[in-house]
Amino acid sequence: MRTAIVTGGASGIGRALCRELARRGAHVVAADLDGAGAERVAKEFGCSAATLDVTDARAVQDLVTGVRAERGRLDLVFNNAGIAVGGTTDELTLDHWDRTIDVNLRGVVHGVHAAYPIMMRQGFGHIVNTASLAGLVPAPLMAPYTATKHAVVGLSLALRAEAAAHGVKVSVVCPGFTDTPLLDHANPGLPQTATGAGARRSATRTQGRLYSVDALAGDIMKGLARNRALIVAPASGRMAWRGVRLSPSLAVRAASLAIRRLGGA
Ligand SMILES: NC(=O)c1ccc[n+]([C@@H]2O[C@H](COP(=O)([O-])OP(=O)(O)OC[C@H]3O[C@@H](n4cnc5c(N)ncnc54)[C@H](O)[C@@H]3O)[C@@H](O)[C@H]2O)c1
Repeated sequence: MRTAIVTGGASGIGRALCRELARRGAHVVAADLDGAGAERVAKEFGCSAATLDVTDARAVQDLVTGVRAERGRLDLVFNNAGIAVGGTTDELTLDHWDRTIDVNLRGVVHGVHAAYPIMMRQGFGHIVNTASLAGLVPAPLMAPYTATKHAVVGLSLALRAEAAAHGVKVSVVCPGFTDTPLLDHANPGLPQTATGAGARRSATRTQGRLYSVDALAGDIMKGLARNRALIVAPASGRMAWRGVRLSPSLAVRAASLAIRRLGGA
């Protein structure tokens, strides 16, 4: 039976991934800072649950090696846990930057560092990192978030190139605004900003309509079956990404106009 670990598995995209993987017959470990939430997901979909803080490298290592030892294999690791941090760059404190880097970037690094050597030794496995469309296009008023998500895209593509020789696959997921609780809890444990407080409203105005988490989970499953390097959804996100590749400077101007329309800068 395939074994999967999903960080951030208690909510939103991670929860939907747990459901899809369980439905496909995998043994799934939903791991989350919110241990009670992970337990609820486990009960609902017949998974296992773990309380995990992805900023704790040792805890991530212990979970990954423990699951491998118990199940005898490690097929899929979704480094998906993340937080939304937003605000004009002048109002963000170093704590905003540090927390974003700790969770969104170091959290992924810890998962890769723990899982990749195991998968290399096995000769198989798939690491799936959740970045964001903000990892491919400029996202003003979210500079720390954008920085970490660009880093996750770079990390994933570099590792993918390296890992192929060892039978290990790496994919990175870049969703546009998706309807999850993330948009209601921006800047968690950090000083709130107008951008953070209004994240859901701005996301809806920017994208038109938030993407559904179920549709995204389906896109991710399809992308993994095809071993896609990048899984970008919805279609409007793929268009925005194409725009950046055609003309980065025009894309920055468009982003600049968009925030002026939102009244953010
Ligand atoms: N919702 C969106 O619009 C959107 C868009 C693009 C990318 N993403 C990314 O998708 C991923 C999942 O986000 P979501 O929208 O499902 O959000 P969510 O808030 O619904 O779920 C995120 C989960 O991560 C957990 N988490 C937070 N910090 C953690 C930590 N230190 N250790 C372990 N777990 C932790 C939370 O408890 C929560 O259960 C994130 O990486 C996010 O940046 C979301």
